[in-house]
Amino acid sequence: MSFDEMDVDTIWMDGEFVDWDDANIHVLTHGLHYGTGVFEGVRCYDTENGPAIFRWEEHLDRLYESCKPYDLEIQHDPEELTEATKELIRRQDLGGCYIRPIAYYGYDSLGVSPGDCPTETTIAAWPWGAYLGEDALENGVEVMVSSWRKHSSSQIPTNAKTTGLYVNSLLAGEEARRNGFVEAIVLNKEGNVAEGPGENIFLVRDDEIYTPGLAESILDGITRDTVITLAEEMGYTVHDDATISRGELNTADELFFTGSAAEVTPIRQVDNVEIGNGSRGPVTEEIQTAFFDLVERRTDDHEEWFEYVEE
Ligand SMILES: Cc1ncc(COP(=O)(O)O)c(C=O)c1O
Repeated sequence: MSFDEMDVDTIWMDGEFVDWDDANIHVLTHGLHYGTGVFEGVRCYDTENGPAIFRWEEHLDRLYESCKPYDLEIQHDPEELTEATKELIRRQDLGGCYIRPIAYYGYDSLGVSPGDCPTETTIAAWPWGAYLGEDALENGVEVMVSSWRKHSSSQIPTNAKTTGLYVNSLLAGEEARRNGFVEAIVLNKEGNVAEGPGENIFLVRDDEIYTPGLAESILDGITRDTVITLAEEMGYTVHDDATISRGELNTADELFFTGSAAEVTPIRQVDNVEIGNGSRGPVTEEIQTAFFDLVERRTDDHEEWFEYVEE
């Protein structure tokens, strides 16, 4: 859905709440030219106790960590970003929504070296439904193994959520969609399974769960961590340091994506091969149910993962 169709009117920009239509930056902003920004994608869920931001602390930690390789220096402490985000949700009367904090090199000069470019920080929030569609959550998606490989973590820090990284995600995702698929799977430089363009990936085989390890050039996903925790609590053996070959995708009992945007999305087909019986598998469904019960607060478990917006 286009922003123009949404009932949103405010964006937080470095300490100010600005009208949505006035939230502008200069065309010579460093981050626009060189992809020198870091960002987060966070979901806030509508619960009985009002809007609750899921794993906000971990997202904030990752935002500040992502700054490190680029020497970006967010000029606001975590408490200020937290207050700004809650106020943004309150002011716009949002219930469930998606939150997008971003910090980037701003306007001063345009050498690749950022020189005196300031680190600018903004936060926006808007309603956002199921990332790959409502149908995807229930019936799963068809995905294509992209011909684009993921950059290796020796070429660019893949554990930092950097704006520039997402041109690779765009290439992979759009290639898949041009070929009639919903999403891509991206292999790493070694040819093993890394992740989706904006998702981590899990494989189920013989009732055990596997996900590529951090050395496979993946983002250290917060939903990945959530699912590992939930699955272990449910009694599953989770191999969270796996190396998964391309061929193992085809013979998996089940596959699913995880991500703040994608939540827990089953994968029903890879290229021309149906996975399992070609629909959402039982382990995926069990984990998906546990995940939505958790984030929509139908359980009291993991209260520590929620930041409530109302006082
Ligand atoms: C490349 C990539 N991998 C994995 C993920 C999943 O991470 P998280 O669960 O923290 O949203 C994302 C989304 O942020 C992503 O962009």
